[in-house]
Amino acid sequence: MLAPTWSPGPVADEKRRFVLAAERASLVLLEKPARVTPVWAYGGSVPGPELRVRRGEAFTVRLENRLSQPTSVHWHGIRIDNAMDGVAGLTQDAVPPGGTFDYSFSAPDAGTFWYHPHFRSWEQLARGLYGLLIVEEDEPPAVDRDVAWIADDWRLEVTGLIDERSFGSMRDASHQGRLGNWLTVNGLTEPQIPVRAGERIRLRCVNVANARVMAFDFDRQKLRPSIVAVDGQPVAPREPDRRGLELAPGQRTDLIVDVLEAPGGRIPVYEVSTRERIESAAFKVEDAPPLRSRPLTESVSLPANPLARDLPLEDAQAIPMLMEGGAMGGLGEASYKGKMLDIRSLVAEGKVWSFNGIVGMPDQPLATVSRGRTAVIDMINRTAWPHAMHLHGHHFRVVERDGKAVTDAPWRDTVLVARQEKVRIAFIADNPGKWLFHCHMLEHQAAGMVTWIVVA
Ligand code: C2O
Ligand code: CU
Repeated sequence: MLAPTWSPGPVADEKRRFVLAAERASLVLLEKPARVTPVWAYGGSVPGPELRVRRGEAFTVRLENRLSQPTSVHWHGIRIDNAMDGVAGLTQDAVPPGGTFDYSFSAPDAGTFWYHPHFRSWEQLARGLYGLLIVEEDEPPAVDRDVAWIADDWRLEVTGLIDERSFGSMRDASHQGRLGNWLTVNGLTEPQIPVRAGERIRLRCVNVANARVMAFDFDRQKLRPSIVAVDGQPVAPREPDRRGLELAPGQRTDLIVDVLEAPGGRIPVYEVSTRERIESAAFKVEDAPPLRSRPLTESVSLPANPLARDLPLEDAQAIPMLMEGGAMGGLGEASYKGKMLDIRSLVAEGKVWSFNGIVGMPDQPLATVSRGRTAVIDMINRTAWPHAMHLHGHHFRVVERDGKAVTDAPWRDTVLVARQEKVRIAFIADNPGKWLFHCHMLEHQAAGMVTWIVVA
């Protein structure tokens, strides 16, 4: 299969069973001249199949591992039954080559979620293993079409091969993580997405890159973008930031856009996180009469999910978390596998980051919270790098940044903590089990930025 492929649409049978085979496949990402990029893919396509389910409905996804290494699937952002969370080594054993695993669960919240391996994530995501999990609202909003916007940042060689030699690079791990050199949207290089004039589209944006924080400039005049959800959870409609719609690794944003360009026109969307404005994709307006004589003007809002309405902070359990290490971080020593190691010995183990002086997955959880109680995590980022902190099984709110109260922050599952910043988040620990809390810059995670919380 040489053509870049992307297969949206349901693949479940009538018993609501999906099959997700992790296997080898090929893409053509470099086109002039055309080069084949061997990848790892779910169902042979990158992104993997778009799984669509209804809120609250039970379904099963059978993972078939046709790779040469173990794997697992994590359902990012779903407030899921802990046994189905897919974290190899914590909630299940990794699925060996040739093995299968049935993930049976239901999703309590409607919204945009995604799936990816949770075993050697830094390699398996970089090779192409990811896909969207869409949980439909009981009454979906009135849009003409639902379109995915899955942004990835590949590190390719000029031959088109994935740069494998730099997997596990300590330079990447101690700096920003594995930044790539090739941007794709929906597994395609600069796709021209066909649209109709006057059309209203729900764009489901997700950043699946290992490490790059991206920002997209959706044309304000020609698309009139409006944010209606972040990390799967509805928000009151708001405009994206002037500097572009920022997405840290793991984060999602649902946008409503209206195509306000004449038939035959083209609306490029630029990635603007660096000094260059890179064309990431474009909407190509079909040469056909507009879908409606007057563009829609009433704003879309999504129905609320069954999350708690308030977040009682009095009597919350305080969980301090000091983040240290990395290049220019001055980490002297830290505890790794129960032993104090100096930085040299840590580097020799491939570890350079610590939470509360501990490197890597500790035997003991960061905290044990009793079910139903509010927990407040105080992150102090004493490093020279930003981190995209992701909590499994729950959504949280930022309640304070650098000592200043934040009111009205959206529910999120992944938050970007700037270098040297202090971010306080709060969540209601209402989902029992063992939940990972880690940096979604996957090289940081592999090099130490991972811990867990027990809800008992
Ligand atoms: Cu999207 Cu622990 O991961
Ligand atoms: Cu990080």
